This record gives sequence, C-alpha cells and structure tokens, in this order.
Amino acid sequence: MPSSPEVPGARPVIIEELRAIQDTHGYLPAAELRALAERTQTPLYHLQGLASFYPHFRLAPPPAIDLRVCADLSCHLNGADDLRSAVEARVARLGPSGVAIREVSCLGQCDCAPAASVNDAIVARLTSASLYSHVEAAAAGRRFPHPEVQRPEAPLRIDPYAGGQRYEALRKLLASRDAAGTLAALKESGLRGLGGAGFPTGLKWEIVRNAPGDAKYVVCNADESEPGTIKDRFIMEHIPHLVIEGMVLAGVVTGARTGIIYIRHEYEAQRVILEQELEQCQRAGLVGRDLLGSGVSFDLSIFVSPGGYICGEESALLEALEDRRAEPRNKPPFPGTHGLYNKPTVINNVETFAFVPPILLKGVEWFKAEGRSGAPGLKFVGVSGHVARPGVYEIPMGTPTRELIFDRAGGVSGGRRLKAFAPSGPSSGFLPPAMLDVPLDFKSLADAGSMLGSGAIVVCAEGTCMLDMALNAVRFFKNESCGKCVPCRVGSAKMVDILTDISRGRGRREDLDLIGELSEALALTSICGLGQVAPNPIGSVLTHFRDEVEEHLARRRCPSGVCAMA
Ligand code: SF4
Ligand code: FES
Repeated sequence: MPSSPEVPGARPVIIEELRAIQDTHGYLPAAELRALAERTQTPLYHLQGLASFYPHFRLAPPPAIDLRVCADLSCHLNGADDLRSAVEARVARLGPSGVAIREVSCLGQCDCAPAASVNDAIVARLTSASLYSHVEAAAAGRRFPHPEVQRPEAPLRIDPYAGGQRYEALRKLLASRDAAGTLAALKESGLRGLGGAGFPTGLKWEIVRNAPGDAKYVVCNADESEPGTIKDRFIMEHIPHLVIEGMVLAGVVTGARTGIIYIRHEYEAQRVILEQELEQCQRAGLVGRDLLGSGVSFDLSIFVSPGGYICGEESALLEALEDRRAEPRNKPPFPGTHGLYNKPTVINNVETFAFVPPILLKGVEWFKAEGRSGAPGLKFVGVSGHVARPGVYEIPMGTPTRELIFDRAGGVSGGRRLKAFAPSGPSSGFLPPAMLDVPLDFKSLADAGSMLGSGAIVVCAEGTCMLDMALNAVRFFKNESCGKCVPCRVGSAKMVDILTDISRGRGRREDLDLIGELSEALALTSICGLGQVAPNPIGSVLTHFRDEVEEHLARRRCPSGVCAMA
C-alpha cells in the first residue's frame, strides 16, 4: 500500500471518515455523524456542511437502484434525453421497483456517450435496451465491469521509455541534484499548465522552490470534470508512470516531501492503475523515504474526491483536502506561496506532470520540435459529440482543428455536415466551420475569441440547435456552481431561465440585452473561473449563430426543430 504523507494532518481525515461511514451504511446516518463529531471533536454543523456540499454523500438511505443519466454536452448530443425517458417509461411499466432515475453531470465517459451510473457503477455506450438490462442486473445484485479502456492508435510519442527502464529522469536528477538546470529546461521548453490555465510550469515550480516554508506540497489535479474532458483519464490509463515521475521530480526540485493525487471518484479504474504503479514505485525505492538512497524523501498518496466539478478549481481542491467545503478561495495569494495548509504548493494537472520526464530526457529541442504553427510540444485532446471515432488523441500542439476532427477522428458521424464545434467543452463556447483551420494552441484559440482549455473538442452535426447547446452548457455551470458568490449562484440560474424561455418561444427581444448585462456581471464579479466562463456558451452562439436565436425570438420556432415550443 502507498505510505501516508509524512506531514501530520496532510489528509482530509473527516472526509475519509464520512466516506467510510457511507461505504458501511450506504448513506450517512444521523447517529453516525453525531458519533463522528464526538470522536473527532468536530462541530456537528461542520460535518453537516461537508455532507450536504459534496454530491457523493447521501444524508438519507439510497434507493434500491440509483440510476443517474448524464445530461451534459456529449451525452445530450447522443440522445441522453430520449434514453432517460425511454428507461423511465419502461421502469414505470415493468419495474423493477425502487428505481430512482435522475440526471447527473458529466461522468468522464464523453467518448462513450451516452453514459450513466447505476448504483455508482459507470456504464457507457448505452441504448435504452442496454441501460434497462443494467438496471435489471443491479436489481439482481450483479456487478458491472468498468467501461473498456481505449487503446492508443500508435505508441505514444510522450513516453520516453518505450518498454525500457522507467524513471530515468528521476534517477538522473537524484544523482545530479541539478534543480536549477531542471527549472531552466522547463522554462525554456515553454511547457504550460495543460488543465486549462496555461501558467508556465517552470515558473510555478520556481516560485514554490524559492518560497520559504518548513513544509511544501505537490498536488496533482486529476479531477477533470468538464463535459468533453477525458484526456487525463486516458493518460492515467496508459502512462501513469509519467504522472508519478513528474510529481516526484516536482518534489525533488521544490523541496516538497508530500504529494497527493486528487482524483475524481468516477475514475475508479484509473485509481486502481495509479495505485498499482505507486506500489511498484515504493518497492523500487522511487517513492517514499530516502529515494534510491539519496537522502531525499517524497511520500505520495491518492485521495478520491467526494465529487463536484468545482473541485477541479485549484483552490477549491485545496479546500477539500483541508476537510472543508470545496469553495474557491479569493486570489491572490496563489497556491505557489499559500497553498495546502497555507504552505507553498505545486498544483499541476495530470497531463502537465506527465510531460516533465520526456522534456528532461529527450530535451527541450525535441519538445519544441513536436509542435506546429510555432507552438511547442504535444497535446492530448478528447474528441466527442457527433464524431465518427470519438476518443483521446495525442497531437502536435498547433494542429489545425480540421485535421483532428476529420483526419484523426473520422469526421462528423453519419456522414453529416459540421454545424459547430467547441474547442474545449462548454467553457470555450462554440465556433462555426469557418474557423476549422484555427490551430489548437493557447494563442491561436485565444486570438479566435475562444480557448484551448483542457483540450475537449465537442462536435455538433447539422441539425443541432445551437441555442439548445448553449442552454445545456449554461445549465451545467448553474448545476455545478458552488454557491459561494451571488453573481454566479443567482446569475447562472437567471441565465438558464432566460435561455429556457427563449427556447420555448416565450422570449422577448429585451432578453438579449439582459443576457449581455448578466454576462458582463458574471465575468467581472465572479470569484472563480466557473462563474467567469459561464456566459461563454451563449456569448459564442450570439456571435456566430445569432440568426438561430433571433428565429426563436421573432418567429417562435426552432429552425432545427429541436426545441419544444410552449
Ligand atoms: S464563481 Fe461560482 S463556482 Fe466560483 S466561487 Fe463563485 S459561486 Fe462558487
Ligand atoms: S459523460 Fe456525458 S458529457 Fe461527459
């Protein structure tokens, strides 16, 4: 088993206890919460606050069968609404009894849409018949295998080991202790945070190395949860050794002795893969005390998130690790100087850590040369929605979107024409086919008024209603708002109301002005990125597909025949 971190209190003890209670009882009984409050000397209101915040926790006994159907972009495009309705009707007619059916946010199976969970087990590539048979299987007490893992098309260019001895970059650093050289290489390479923020990695690590402090931390954000975002799942499945090596390298360079991988609870199969790799590392002396006899120690463990998209926001994630509600912090200060337990903390995404070992081994020039259109490096991108071969692709940074969608991912499914694409899930908004040649890199997409984000292309075929897509995307942000600040909590709900009205033929022209004002308020006054990007989907639709919205308003009809008019 992986060892515990060295620094006392570097684990969310209360959240782990709540999880253990729920594993035993299926929910959190009031008597157990009172006993936990006494045992840990924690106020009961704090426990209630945690239990009611995180979606994974239940305060009442679960139904016999808890069926949750993903309602977000990629599943929505692949018929999730009809699927849910069909299964609801069949369950109502034929049973089994005790089935509760509801919507859930993205399950990280966007390439296998539509997806659902049945008593917390993930099922994907669903038809109404297969989903109903899963419900029956659950009623009979049978368990399900994890969804199949996508195989890479070819050996991954990122992996410098190709069957040879792994962890060579770590061995070299432990022998040379050249932290300054490592930081210089990372800066020179141009590696940026690949979870969406794009902060220069070398600079981030340098800030933590130079920050004074008796304890420092390295945290891996493996909580990708935005609809369409599946690339970290793929990376953890196929190159977990690079993620772990990147984290240990960060520890050696910055002086941190404790690392935590924060992984979403739906990624159980990926957690097991990481756990096995960690065990091997510990046996080989690559993680834990006195790494390879160097005198340097670095403990690494995995923490499973109790749920919620907002936990992917770095400061919210840190709050969760400190046993609090995952509400984003006001910034500055930033985690580099004031992170976990207010200590200097490197927090990077799975993909960012994975790119560090190949850069150090193959060299800066190799990394730069892998990119195109002037952008350095490689990128993993998920492609989902109406596409022939959904999945995760390793591409040169700067690859034109057209090439990825049509040459690699097989084009639009069913031989249809492309109507739109989101470069990175709901937060990037939607772009028209005329922008298909935009290179997939930070600068080109920012110049195009969008963003590279985490790399999550969602493809929309002809016949898609873009107002309906904007409504679906904004509803995701409303559902996932943590509620800490008013503009986001109230504004996102108001935005959903307005878009619902327009899509039902109840909209008024003044609503467009209201959308503009609300968008400005959300972007300027929300504490974190969720509220700031929540208006992007409708903003992009009004920019590129305005005629469609106008038709809903002026003629009270959906030109694509998707929206049900009142
Ligand atoms: S912007 Fe939204 S998600 Fe972010 S802190 Fe405010 S309420 Fe929470
Ligand atoms: S699993 Fe449904 S949108 Fe991701």
